[in-house]
Amino acid sequence: MDFQTELERRRTFAIVSHPDAGKTTLTEKLLLFGGAIRVAGAVKSNKIKKGATSDFMEIERQRGISVATSVMGFEYDGYKVNILDTPGHQDFQEDTFRTLTAVDSVIIVVDAAKGVEPQTEKLMNVCRMRKTPVIVFINKLDRPTQGSFELLDEIENQLKIKVRPLSWPINSGPDFKGVYNIYNRSLNLFNPNVQEIEPIIAFDDINNPELENYIRNDAKILREELELVEGVYPELDVNEYLAGNLAPVFFGSALYNFGVQELLDTFLKIAPFPRPSYTEEREVKPDEEKFSGFVFKIHANIDPNHRSRIAFVKVCSGQFVRNNMYKNVRLGKTFRISSPTAFMASQKEIVDEAFPGDIIGVPDTGNFIIGDTLTEGEDIHFKGLPSFSPELFRYMENADPMKTKQLNKGIDQLMDEGVAQLFTSQFNGRKIIGTVGQLQFEVIQYRLEHEYTAKCRFEVLSMYKACWIECDDPKKLDEFKKRKHQKMAKDKRGRDVFMADSSFILQMAQDEFKDIRFHFTSEF
Ligand code: G4P
Repeated sequence: MDFQTELERRRTFAIVSHPDAGKTTLTEKLLLFGGAIRVAGAVKSNKIKKGATSDFMEIERQRGISVATSVMGFEYDGYKVNILDTPGHQDFQEDTFRTLTAVDSVIIVVDAAKGVEPQTEKLMNVCRMRKTPVIVFINKLDRPTQGSFELLDEIENQLKIKVRPLSWPINSGPDFKGVYNIYNRSLNLFNPNVQEIEPIIAFDDINNPELENYIRNDAKILREELELVEGVYPELDVNEYLAGNLAPVFFGSALYNFGVQELLDTFLKIAPFPRPSYTEEREVKPDEEKFSGFVFKIHANIDPNHRSRIAFVKVCSGQFVRNNMYKNVRLGKTFRISSPTAFMASQKEIVDEAFPGDIIGVPDTGNFIIGDTLTEGEDIHFKGLPSFSPELFRYMENADPMKTKQLNKGIDQLMDEGVAQLFTSQFNGRKIIGTVGQLQFEVIQYRLEHEYTAKCRFEVLSMYKACWIECDDPKKLDEFKKRKHQKMAKDKRGRDVFMADSSFILQMAQDEFKDIRFHFTSEF
């Protein structure tokens, strides 16, 4: 197969949702179609469940699962599909945001009874920021739901994206009869007792009286609703979808494997193959001859006895070839990557080559950090891997002075993995850990102890937000830093960070110092 064909047959995407909307169930059904797994229940939910086991045990179990399911690749109908998994727990949303930088499109799962939930909105904000094409799957139609038009309105208003339904449900809950596929004009009947795919009946003309034979009185309502759909929503414009302005919508039930095939088939047809990526220096096109890629995730110390790490590299351009020398631009050093792994059918295997859109796992002994660029020699830096301003803060103290070295090393590596962010107060020199979720503090303490034999103590620090500051006028920046010297810190890269106690104080600072730019992500 030539390079261009390899490129165009790749679909690299993530399935995201508010916890419990059905992301894991849908992922599993897609893998069943791809033959990547054989039985339902093979995909483990990577949710952190509170209760039965201690959180720490749960975290370890999760880490095991999440490396196995980080990327699920399979071949289907001539396509090479790469599904990137995202953590289910909202305390790990930053991981999810980073994963979204490595995908070319996204499927958002919405629970038909609950509608748009807070996490869905946040994830959509990231997609919008990056103009990622989005398809919405409205799930759990086998249960009583909100009205379909209301749901679509809610999606448009809350997710701030135009929608275009491509299938339409016939009732829901106990009366759920199935969906009409608007895209290819066919009727797909639902039978809760059969988990296999029901025969699909072509219905070119919805006014054909034969429709009554299948769905009786519901035929009239379906016709009326479809007329309304055609009146209200514009035709599907694939370019609008690709530009991230319009979300095609499907209805179904992941649990019953219903509506999933339509979703997959349409997705494969319209979803983009790898798109250009942006570096600080220039745009990188996937069909460029030379290889480039970036690290979007690091998974460390799966086996605590070996300091093994896997850096997940998204191939952005050219062909990656095993045993070739590639440059880590940040270090200015070249490395031979002799055992890169790919993730096919949830198994890790060594690969000899990879193409744009693919994810490869590179065994690492500490040379890579999140955001690193790999090239054949060119000095470019991929953009778009932001750290978000943390919202929870603790002072960190060494609880075992004999293990200072271990503690520093552990903290260094955990920060490189993106578990949390480290700041140093410029006022008292103390170390401050900032996170987006409470659970990260437990993760840090647990992993420091188990992987680095170091101990730390946290001290609550009541703070609203850390934001990066910048100013074109060095004098004004200095003046700000002097006035706020008790609240100034440096991040790991030595950049200035203002730690605001409250939203009011932040607002006051923004009003008073008009020339200072306050940034809420580390990418600016
Ligand atoms: P998540 O990854 O988005 O967090 O959701 P997950 O797939 O784990 O699904 C959450 C719950 O919703 C699961 O039930 C799952 O079986 C159920 N579910 C998913 N899709 C559908 C659907 O189409 N219809 C119905 N009725 N339920 C659905 P659970 O009881 O929490 O877990 P489990 O014990 O069944 O695994």
